[in-house]
Amino acid sequence: PKTEPKLAPVAPTTTSKGGQWAATPFEIDRRRNFAIISHPDAGKTTLTEKLLLYGGAIQEAGAVRSRSDQRKATSDWMELEKQRGISITSTVLSFEYDGNHINLLDTPGHQDFSEDTYRTLAAADNAVMLVDAAKGLEPQTRKLFEVCKLRELPIFTFVNKLDRPSLSPFELLDQIEREFGMKMAPVLWPIGDGEEFKGVLDRDTKTVHLFERAGRTKKATDMPELDLHDPKLPELITEELHEQLLEDVEMLDELVEPLDMERVLTGEQSPMFFGSAMTNFGVELFLKRFLTIGQKPSSRRMGNADVILPGYNEFTGFVFKLQANLDPRHRDRLAYVRVVSGRYEKGMKVQHSRMKGKQVTLAHAQQLFAQERETVLAAYPGDVIGINNPGHFAIGDTIFTGSNKIRFPGIPSFSPECFAYMRNPNPSKYKNYRKGLDQLLDEGAVQMLRERSDDGNGNPILAAVGTLQFDVVQHRMKAEYGVDTILEPLSGYNTARWAEGGWESIDEATKAGKLFGVFTAQDRFGRPVLLFRNEWKLANVQGDLPQLELIPWSRPP
Ligand code: G4P
Repeated sequence: PKTEPKLAPVAPTTTSKGGQWAATPFEIDRRRNFAIISHPDAGKTTLTEKLLLYGGAIQEAGAVRSRSDQRKATSDWMELEKQRGISITSTVLSFEYDGNHINLLDTPGHQDFSEDTYRTLAAADNAVMLVDAAKGLEPQTRKLFEVCKLRELPIFTFVNKLDRPSLSPFELLDQIEREFGMKMAPVLWPIGDGEEFKGVLDRDTKTVHLFERAGRTKKATDMPELDLHDPKLPELITEELHEQLLEDVEMLDELVEPLDMERVLTGEQSPMFFGSAMTNFGVELFLKRFLTIGQKPSSRRMGNADVILPGYNEFTGFVFKLQANLDPRHRDRLAYVRVVSGRYEKGMKVQHSRMKGKQVTLAHAQQLFAQERETVLAAYPGDVIGINNPGHFAIGDTIFTGSNKIRFPGIPSFSPECFAYMRNPNPSKYKNYRKGLDQLLDEGAVQMLRERSDDGNGNPILAAVGTLQFDVVQHRMKAEYGVDTILEPLSGYNTARWAEGGWESIDEATKAGKLFGVFTAQDRFGRPVLLFRNEWKLANVQGDLPQLELIPWSRPP
């Protein structure tokens, strides 16, 4: 439960230009931000494209892909992306629709890049869970759902690809409810699927929106709409599907909970939509409804019980992602900041949570507006800005104005599943090796553990969620820092757990022979991390040592 803020909004501070930092309620109210979570191939790129199309941000579909093609062309290390045909980086896309300002946090879809995705979710106020209607829940969606739950994000479910043969909507609803313990509240309900897909019913207004196969690249034309009880309906969607629809409606009214926004905001219930992103059906219906029920820029808890409301008059924000060398000609380094309260203005001075008394000037914030990187003049709660990072910022840092010291809790790192020793075979390149590695660790491209040692200088072990991250690290070390590296997989281990409670309990357990076959490492803060061969071994050790608290991510110190 969110507690009342101890920090009441203070009087607006004036800037040198005489303006005010405060975000007006108008700017806060009209902002919505969300991230799409899905398994690769569920249609995230397609949906993103269609949303941007509605926002008028792009003129034709295909632009999202070509935008990333352009980026690929300008950036060296993204050759790897090209080779693998996947999207590695995540960005934030903004567009205007119907008076709203929408920020779409674009999370990388490939399963090996979940670390970045996890962090992006820390900046989101809503998640849209995209499900392939033929496949139902898939592994990556399950993983990401857990993160959304941890972050207490409201989740909107969009079942995609209804124009293809699909599982029954009741089956999908059941599956999600059963596996995620979250109630589904269908807002739209599909009529048929595949070749027989006829449209969706808006359960609220009892309006049937008929499906027309619009061209892939066009905005859907105005679709015919009919009342559920319109006598022409059976003819249009066939007698059989009409009967089925009436039956479904009755069942839904009886069996599923009505939409309850309070329960949506606490993640207990998920509004459910059906459509087909590729043929552009149901996307605008979803967008319109999302804008009315999606969570507005939310407040953020600090480490203690204090909460910063978006209407707090001072500027506050936190860094959730770092990225370097997007453009190799400029060697730029960006820190992505989620604005929590107040108003960002170009050139403003902020304080930094880790640097007492030092002010940092935010000169050139950038934002991705549709396809273009633009300099931002002002940003408000719910927005994400990319600020130049000459090395001041780390993931989890807070920046703020005003005399109240603000510090948001850090962002946890998630459990790595692949491990490898990394070596620099060329001692003369040591300086570059260190520099590159530090940068990549800062960005969180990988985590670094060490073999346990008293001086903290044990052999370094790279740890990642997926092995592709290792390839990226090696590729970038070579391309950006001119360093060849050697990786030796620490094979056999695939599960990491941070042991809470320090080394004492680990030493005791080791002496008692209870950690046989378990690799003991330490993280960069010197805390014990245990590597297991499999879940079974982990369960075994945990059963043997019930008092040992093992958690799958590193808490920020
Ligand atoms: P992703 O970003 O989640 O990985 O998925 P993406 O949008 O790239 O979509 C994956 C594939 O699914 C694409 O086909 C895309 O056209 C298709 N798709 C997306 N939404 C729908 C839908 O509503 N209906 C149908 N029938 N297909 C859909 P592809 O063959 O891999 O690529 P392409 O050649 O079509 O671009």
